[in-house]
Formats: sequence, structure tokens, C-alpha cells
Amino acid sequence: MSHDRPLVFAHRGGAEALPEHTLAAYLRALDEGADGVECDVRLTRDGHLVCVHDRRLNRTSNGTGLVSAKTLAELEALDFASWHPAAATEDLSAEHTRLLTLERLLDALRDRGRPVRLLIETKHPSRYGAEVERRLVEMLRRYGLAEPAPDDPIRVTVMSFAALALRRIRTMAPGIPTVYLMEILPPGVGRGRLPFGARIAGPGVGLVRARPNLVPNLRAAGHGVYVWTVNGDEDVSLVLAHQVDGIITDRPRFVLDRLEKV
Ligand code: G3P
Ligand code: CA
Repeated sequence: MSHDRPLVFAHRGGAEALPEHTLAAYLRALDEGADGVECDVRLTRDGHLVCVHDRRLNRTSNGTGLVSAKTLAELEALDFASWHPAAATEDLSAEHTRLLTLERLLDALRDRGRPVRLLIETKHPSRYGAEVERRLVEMLRRYGLAEPAPDDPIRVTVMSFAALALRRIRTMAPGIPTVYLMEILPPGVGRGRLPFGARIAGPGVGLVRARPNLVPNLRAAGHGVYVWTVNGDEDVSLVLAHQVDGIITDRPRFVLDRLEKV
């Protein structure tokens, strides 16, 4: 997994500049030069995969309650942008305010006609049984992305904090690379072992700082390392010193500028 520089991924579409998980945020991050985007997915009550980070709607929309308790039509009626500071300065179109479904995101990425990387994080896999992963793999199959090839227009990687979710992906679609996300150190990982065939480790930047041997051990074991959420100057320096493979950031343009100066 060697690149000239780490890949830069826009976290939740690049959550600083525009409201997270809106199509406008994703497209702007890619226009600014991000190599890919990171997207959280959840299931609606009627079984649609939607790009929303929190369990509840309260923080990022004008709705309330659980995402999982709403139908797609109910979510489509909400405003997902007005809470964000950009709403005061930007002219917000439907691209900025509307709920993003995974399907709409895949269509938009495919239509750009340029290769792009997509990190999909499945949220709360135990709540729905295997349903999130099952529907995700089904959708990726429909787009021809479940058996990855180097010339795919969208290169998908699935991520989760839950080893169980990685096992499901491995069983259903063994060709899809997976990232094991971690905020604290799970057993065995400090020595470079990842569960269920995960190729890439995804430690939080705080964990990288607290455990200086972690990234070297993972790299020595042959794993790639994608670190989140790297927004500040010192954190960029830290992950560059560790020669990580991917940087997941709310500020893709800032990180890209830093990389150009190295
Ligand atoms: O990219 C991993 C990172 O997104 C995990 O944290 O809470 O932002 O989903 P969270
Ligand atoms: Ca995430």
C-alpha cells in the first residue's frame, strides 16, 4: 500500500466547510482535490441506506428522534443544512440541504467520471442484525462494486468499529477491503493483529499520539493505516511522521496544502 503521499479523505464529506453528509459537501471536497470521501450509513425504518452520522436527527437537521424510526420520505422532507455556520454565508441549494442517500452519493460519484475512493462506515451493526451490511453489499453489487477491480470508477472500502460488521462483509463480499476503526486499543491490535481479515487499521489520532508503537507495529505486520479525524497542524505532522497511508479530515484543502509543503 505505498503512495507518494497519504491519501486524503473528506470526513463526512469535509464537515468543516459545508454541512456534513450533504452532496454539496462531498462534491466540493473532491473539487478541492480530496482523493476520496468518508460516509457513515444508517438504515431508515423502511430499509434505505442514508448518509447520516448520529443516531438522532437533532444535531444535523430540523427534525427530531431516531433516524431508524423514520421512513425515507419523512427524512427527505427535512432540512439538513440550516444548523451549519455555512448557512449564514452560502447560497444553499437542494444539494446542500437535502438528505443524502447512499444511492444518490454513488450516482454522483460515478457521474463525475474520475476515479474516486469511497470509505463507507456502517453504524450500529448489532441494532439491525446483519441488515445494514446485507443491504450495503446488495447495493454495491448493483453498482458492480462488490468485487473490486483496479479500474473501478469508485473504489469502495468498508469501515467499522465493530469487528462483527467486518466479519459480515468478509463473508458476504470477501473482495471488499475493510478498515477496523478504533478509538481505544482492542486486544491484539497493539501487536499488529486485526480481526476478520481487515487489511487496514483506522485508529483515532488520539490513539496514535498515546501509543507511539501502534502505527509502526501495524505497518510491520503489513497493514495499511488510515487515521481520523486529523484537522490540526500538529496532528498532520504526527501522522506524516508515522507515514500513514490515509488521512481522514474535516478540512481536506488544509491537509492537502500541508502535504504540498512537505
Ligand atoms: O473515519 C472514521 C471516523 O469517521 C470515525 O468516527 O464518529 O466520525 O464516525 P465518527
Ligand atoms: Ca464515520
